[in-house]
Amino acid sequence: MIDQVTVDKVLETANSNIVEVVSDYVTLRRRGINFLGNCPFHNEKTPSFTVSPHKGIFKCFGCGEGGNALNFVMKHDQLSFVDAIKFLGQKFNIEIEEEEYSPEQLKQKNERESMMVLSEYAGHFFSKNLNETDEGKSVGLSYFRSRGFRDDIIEKFQLGYSPEQRDALTKEAQKQGYKLEYLEKTGLTVVRENYQADRFRGRVMFPIHSLAGKVIAFGGRILKSDKKTAKYLNSPESEIYHKSRVLYGIYHAKQEITRQDRCYLVEGYTDVLSFHQSGISNVVASSGTALTSDQIRLIARFTKNITIIYDGDPAGIKASLRGIDLVLAEGINVKILLLPDGEDPDSFAKERNEEQLKQYIDEHQQDFIKFKTSLLLADAQNDPIKKAQLIQDIVRSISIIPDKIQRSGYLKECSELLRVDEGVLVYESDMLHKKKHEEDSRRNAPRANNSYENIEPSTPSVTEQTLNSIASNPLELEEREILRFLVKFGERTINNEADEQVTVGQYILHELKQDDLMSVNATYNKMMEAYDKVCADTSKPALKFFVNNADPELSKLASDLIGKEHDLSRIHHKFGVVTNAEELLPDLVPKVVAELKWKKVKLVIKEKRLQLQQLGINGNEEAMMEIMQELNTWQQVLAHISKELGGRTIV
Ligand code: CTP
Ligand code: MN
Repeated sequence: MIDQVTVDKVLETANSNIVEVVSDYVTLRRRGINFLGNCPFHNEKTPSFTVSPHKGIFKCFGCGEGGNALNFVMKHDQLSFVDAIKFLGQKFNIEIEEEEYSPEQLKQKNERESMMVLSEYAGHFFSKNLNETDEGKSVGLSYFRSRGFRDDIIEKFQLGYSPEQRDALTKEAQKQGYKLEYLEKTGLTVVRENYQADRFRGRVMFPIHSLAGKVIAFGGRILKSDKKTAKYLNSPESEIYHKSRVLYGIYHAKQEITRQDRCYLVEGYTDVLSFHQSGISNVVASSGTALTSDQIRLIARFTKNITIIYDGDPAGIKASLRGIDLVLAEGINVKILLLPDGEDPDSFAKERNEEQLKQYIDEHQQDFIKFKTSLLLADAQNDPIKKAQLIQDIVRSISIIPDKIQRSGYLKECSELLRVDEGVLVYESDMLHKKKHEEDSRRNAPRANNSYENIEPSTPSVTEQTLNSIASNPLELEEREILRFLVKFGERTINNEADEQVTVGQYILHELKQDDLMSVNATYNKMMEAYDKVCADTSKPALKFFVNNADPELSKLASDLIGKEHDLSRIHHKFGVVTNAEELLPDLVPKVVAELKWKKVKLVIKEKRLQLQQLGINGNEEAMMEIMQELNTWQQVLAHISKELGGRTIV
């Protein structure tokens, strides 16, 4: 951790020198009090990227990207918060105290570094072998060429060749001073009691690069079509290579993924290479593992739009269907492109140039609803039961999406496409979503711990924390949902019941105050109170107000609330099918407020009923009458709110 004083100092310095920070990446020209240049985050010919030295912020009027100097380098270089602070600290000569390592941590750090250095060396060894030795040239290089790979691609991806000799690398590396210990730990050498052998022998080599471009592992392909040997052999899991968190090609793709705001996801090494060769470089492969959530989160750092491109065979379709739900669960938009049967992305790309490939993808990629529908509707069309199953299936996928606004957009599409009443779908999806949420909470709930396995005190997970707070605040979820709208859309305008234009913030605060619905959670209340003072101002984005808030409790809560979310305005304008967030706000804001009221009234009714029971036991009839009357009124209130919520059964 870097201490707050240092962070503040770096932030202040960097923001007040934002032109200097941005100028390292973008050519800026003065335009009045601001500076103007071509946006590095999307493709543009006429500059719409502005930097305001007075405000210490940048903003692109083309793609909507914006923020302070820290946000800029984080986004541009894909750095973590800590790394970005370190980077800026270095730039402005602000000393940053590094955390101290324990001897154990230091050992681990050194070990990792040694393994990285060795992997880098092995990468050179293999590529040198490919390009400079007779065996490498005649076997490896000719193989890549026979498959149609150009030299520039071979070089770009540092492809190599591992010779047939049993211990070529193991010997040479040790001669160069690399320790056997690390050869074994990286899996490059298999160490047995009486011999040591290279793991990869007589294979063409695909180095796997980390996000930062360091070689961390390898895939090796056999050259013969020998059915007995696995076609690909991969490095084992190690201190530096966690398969489930790595994507092949991410280093070479990340910049283009950001620029195109889309990532193509394919299956294999050669698929990635062929796409690059055709001129499309926003592509990564899950390579050898079934897609994982961590891999999707890695992509999500660069874009919220993924197109899955798998083979058109049954295995490919199955993998696509599985991938869809995983991607949706991370709050990412997913499209699917199935290739004609018998083709894989590699073969398909090889037959086409950039333009043809792009055009094919653009024309044939489908959103997941259309994909599932077209896959299944053929035999469901005239079969009501099958059709119902299909609808169920699609709604289940929709209910996985964390964002409510996005869910409603998809439900609308589904309702139109399959001609089902939207209300029914919404109800169904809400139920499934709640159920999933509860299941997740239960799964992550702290288990009774009477063994000695977990002696270490562990920090509670986010889910645990949420669970604990739900116990003390039954309105937790509803309140957080409202706060999320406040943070994301506080300054937008909607019409209130009297048809006056108000900001979302004004609307929410007015509604809550009027019905005395302030929270039992002090931080939540603080957030409301803080916004009360500025909520009339439509020119100040609420997001900025909260995220840059000097009160760390508020800025942290704000980032928590929007943590798993995406930039809605951007999705919606990219994504034709989803209705605009702004269009939905007039509907959704009153709805989330009504949800809170509904829940609150339910709680009141529950309490009144308990009181009534108690009084019945004591035989206090007069008091009972009074409570019954109150109950009656509350029931009416509940019915009123239910109507607002679009008809909810009262139980
Ligand atoms: N894979 C693996 N081990 C195997 C087979 C496949 O790790 N025994 C991984 C590889 O990363 C491979 C991906 O799964 O790239 C896809 O497999 P496949 O489609 O069979 O291979 P291709 O990528 O088509 O490879 P090639 O074109 O070289 O045959
Ligand atoms: Mn292939």
